[in-house]
Amino acid sequence: MPHKIASVHPRSTAPRGTTTAALAAFTALALTACSGSGVHGTPGADGVRDPYFPKLGNGGYDVAHYGLTIGYDPESRHLTGEAEITARATQDLSAFNLDLKGLDVQTVVVEGKKANFHRDGQELTVRPPDDLDKGETFRTTVRYSGTPETITDPDESEEGWLRTADGAIALGEPTGSMAWFPANNHPSDKAAYDIRITVPKGLKAISNGELTRESTKNGRTTFAWHSAEPMASYLATVAIGTYEVKRSTTKSGIPVLTAVDPSQVKASAKTLAKIPEIMEWQELNFGPYPFSSTGAIVDKEDDVGYALETQTRPTFPGAPDTELLVHELAHQWFGDSVTPKSWQDMWLNEGFATYAEWLWQEDHGGDSAQEIFDQIYAGDYYESDEDNKAIWAFPPAKPPSAARISDSPVYERGGMVVHKIRQAVGDDTFYDIVQGWTKSRRHGNADTKDFTRYVEEHAGGDAAREKVRAIWGPWLHEDGKPDHP
Ligand code: TRP
Ligand code: ZN
Repeated sequence: MPHKIASVHPRSTAPRGTTTAALAAFTALALTACSGSGVHGTPGADGVRDPYFPKLGNGGYDVAHYGLTIGYDPESRHLTGEAEITARATQDLSAFNLDLKGLDVQTVVVEGKKANFHRDGQELTVRPPDDLDKGETFRTTVRYSGTPETITDPDESEEGWLRTADGAIALGEPTGSMAWFPANNHPSDKAAYDIRITVPKGLKAISNGELTRESTKNGRTTFAWHSAEPMASYLATVAIGTYEVKRSTTKSGIPVLTAVDPSQVKASAKTLAKIPEIMEWQELNFGPYPFSSTGAIVDKEDDVGYALETQTRPTFPGAPDTELLVHELAHQWFGDSVTPKSWQDMWLNEGFATYAEWLWQEDHGGDSAQEIFDQIYAGDYYESDEDNKAIWAFPPAKPPSAARISDSPVYERGGMVVHKIRQAVGDDTFYDIVQGWTKSRRHGNADTKDFTRYVEEHAGGDAAREKVRAIWGPWLHEDGKPDHP
């Protein structure tokens, strides 16, 4: 039975306006101050020119590590935060930006010295007393507090900091992490994380990676989580509340940690018990698992509107079915380890995660990927004609707007692109390509061009290369339904 990831909503985002006069004046001041004292830096850019979210991320530096120390009290909804950001300057810098939406900033310290800062919308501009040299590694500590925001998109799907019945959960795709910590908030700058969360005793705080410490003092419990492998900011999460935590191990020795809302324990037990089996199947098909732990976070259905592939520990709105679990775990390879260079490359995430569901079905007694492909092409996949038609609304590599980066062309038509490659090169070469791709881009970033080039180079000869080249136009880049399945 065909289905849509029940949890996926069409998304909308209104990118913030351009630099205001206030910021321009501030920047000018920073420049003047520099020229007087013979310093050499210029301000880093306030965005990385993402085609869909131009203000996300910032120029001039590259983050290596985030050390986040968060305190949260669900009752008062008050958050206190300290973000210690270790980054390398990629240009001489007189000032640089971080992305932070809402909350109050108390102090910013750069390399041990208090820095001036200025806020304008989601841009936090930091002007350290001393310029930073290109190549220099520098440490910035931001202390902040307040009630973190839920970012509500026009389609009413929500991200950022979401209150739940018993606490809160942070979800960050595509912009929401700036609701709870200052960052270079763009998938192109991945970093290691240490996330420490202190909550009232009796509650738990779950995050990405491995739990390295849990200690209670004065009625509050601190949970320390470590993510050694690079993570994009949109994949960072904290889930605060009452959870039943369970641990196991995959066959290949990877620790599994699931955290499930008590109301969902019964309904999700059978599916979550499949994590080791799913992981084993995925390692066989996609290559070695890229992280040091795995698992899942299951909240109440009403508390989170959709599933998200939060790194090492995907989040689910209520008990997932097997296909959704396969989808989010597949993202650990496609999206989390091999991360899009920009939000235009979303189909590399969703096309592969969708195709993983089809492959799972094919290998487990369901429809084959070819059958699913044929149903979609025939307009016979979803129940409604409208949904069947929507798959052809735009090409996967070119969503018409930020609001539509998670529409079905990115998912299903993206999956069809993957299937077309498999048809063109045959199964053996196809699995070599999939595993070679996840290996060559492991813990990195990639865009559509990187991918199509990789496939062409590994197609297995001139004839196969011509065949895959013929896919890109009609399936990936051009409007309209391709003439041939
Ligand atoms: N990436 C999620 C998934 O496929 C779906 C999703 C949730 C999403 N929030 C989003 C996609 C925001 C794009 C933008 O499981
Ligand atoms: Zn997905």
